Amino acid sequence: MGPRWSLLITAITILLLFPPATSQPKTRKQNSRTLFNESYVFGPFNDSYTYGSLTGIFDVISEAAMHLNALQITPDSAGNISLVNKSGRVFLKKPFKLWDDENGDFNGKLASFNTSFLFNFYRLNNATPGEGMAFVIAPSSAIPYNSYGQYLGLTNSTTDGKESNKFVAIELDNTKQDFDLDNNHIGLDINSIRSNVSVPLSKFGFELSPNGATQDWVIWVEYDGERKEIHVYMAKQPDRNAPIVEKPTKPVLSSSLDLKSLVNQKSYFGFAASTGVNYELHCVLRWNISIMSFPEDKSQFSNALKIGLIIGLPLIAIAIAGPKMQAVVQIISGSVPVPHIPTPKPSFVWPAMDFASILGDFTVTTITNSQFNTRSSSMQLESFDVSSKA
Ligand SMILES: *[C@@H]1O[C@H](CO)[C@@H](O)[C@H](O)[C@H]1NC(C)=O
Ligand SMILES: *[C@@H]1O[C@H](CO)[C@@H](O)[C@H](O)[C@H]1NC(C)=O
Ligand SMILES: *[C@@H]1O[C@H](CO)[C@@H](O)[C@H](O)[C@H]1NC(C)=O
Ligand SMILES: *[C@@H]1O[C@H](CO)[C@@H](O)[C@H](O)[C@H]1NC(C)=O
Ligand SMILES: *[C@@H]1O[C@H](CO)[C@@H](O)[C@H](O)[C@H]1NC(C)=O
Ligand SMILES: *[C@@H]1O[C@H](CO)[C@@H](O)[C@H](O)[C@H]1NC(C)=O
Ligand SMILES: *[C@@H]1O[C@H](CO)[C@@H](O)[C@H](O)[C@H]1NC(C)=O
Ligand SMILES: *[C@@H]1O[C@H](CO)[C@@H](O)[C@H](O)[C@H]1NC(C)=O
Repeated sequence: MGPRWSLLITAITILLLFPPATSQPKTRKQNSRTLFNESYVFGPFNDSYTYGSLTGIFDVISEAAMHLNALQITPDSAGNISLVNKSGRVFLKKPFKLWDDENGDFNGKLASFNTSFLFNFYRLNNATPGEGMAFVIAPSSAIPYNSYGQYLGLTNSTTDGKESNKFVAIELDNTKQDFDLDNNHIGLDINSIRSNVSVPLSKFGFELSPNGATQDWVIWVEYDGERKEIHVYMAKQPDRNAPIVEKPTKPVLSSSLDLKSLVNQKSYFGFAASTGVNYELHCVLRWNISIMSFPEDKSQFSNALKIGLIIGLPLIAIAIAGPKMQAVVQIISGSVPVPHIPTPKPSFVWPAMDFASILGDFTVTTITNSQFNTRSSSMQLESFDVSSKA
């Protein structure tokens, strides 16, 4: 191992706050591992996300776009295209582990998470709005063909209602289908656009896309893995540039929900939306996530470790300086700026073909989201499963 690779290993070790790769009896590990909540703050979706240091955090699936400081889940007219019958998705590339392994340190514990987002729908004056948007937990960001219209970028006429969809979504729907209760509701969708729970928003005096105005809204989705309950709160955000309004005390939608029986253990979070014969813009302006994080249990999968590796010159330098994971997460999510750290010499270049020599005693078994971005000062959070050769 050359000096550069020992540097990297040091970085990884510090980043993960992992003990050395020796197996310890489970009872001892239990004491050394504590649960913490990872927090992410995304937005404003400016050039930092399209050209800058936060490029590549999201999967932006046709015909969604990142434009004008928003995640545009369905397109605007900038491309001079028809806005009829479109669908799109924007998903975080990083998956979340929603429950601990059954034989893990936390005995299959189900995660709790909170997510909140600032969004608006916009329609032209006097036009009929269409169709809606959803926050989604799904096995991947892949969008089904022909998921425009009533399908909200979630399903299509073939896949709707199939258990194999393995998604759960909170829909904000302002087009009435024959199975919908009205043209302005919120719903809990399980594998289908036919909601399991549906609540008219008129009950709270809310209209998703009022005529002749752009109304910004905040949604808070809180999932309690202990009680297996989901609660969704909603409020008007009168001023986009002011601090986010306070979360109301009463939810607009509540339901019991056992995620473990419905979605994949590793699932992806994001947004899906569609237009039909009628259309509107569906924009997300800010997005926060706070979620319980389960450390991987090294005793499983033949000593497999799960490591989060931060790639990019400045971060390697930061890593060596010994950041707290939270600080790294804040840097990645853009809530704090990247500190200026002089580029070390010689420059670090990720040798994509030579993992084994980098990782020394470890063998890489799987790589998820392997989109390396080695341009200087760019960075990404990547995940690897590596197993000890010993
Ligand atoms: C993390 O989330 C759990 C469940 O929502 C909560 O009980 C706990 O207090 C949180 N921990 C921190 C450090 O915020
Ligand atoms: C994007 O917005 C963040 C937060 O306001 C700001 O710190 C950053 O400089 C902006 N980036 C660009 C490229 O405008
Ligand atoms: C947009 O398309 C229409 C016809 O489809 C064309 O008349 C118009 O010039 C185009 N506008 C721009 C800005 O390209
Ligand atoms: C949009 O989809 C509907 C329903 O499938 C169809 O009737 C209509 O012709 C489509 N419009 C366009 C412009 O593709
Ligand atoms: C979610 O929010 C609730 C209520 O504010 C809080 O008690 C809980 O700790 C939060 N959970 C996470 C994972 O952030
Ligand atoms: C996201 O979190 C930050 C930091 O806690 C907070 O200031 C902001 O209001 C939150 N945004 C949303 C949309 O909840
Ligand atoms: C629905 O989506 C699936 C997956 O993308 C695809 O295989 C199927 O052909 C689609 N059905 C229709 C009617 O487009
Ligand atoms: C509600 O969700 C279950 C999955 O738990 C599904 O099988 C059922 O069909 C749904 N019910 C309705 C009314 O959509």
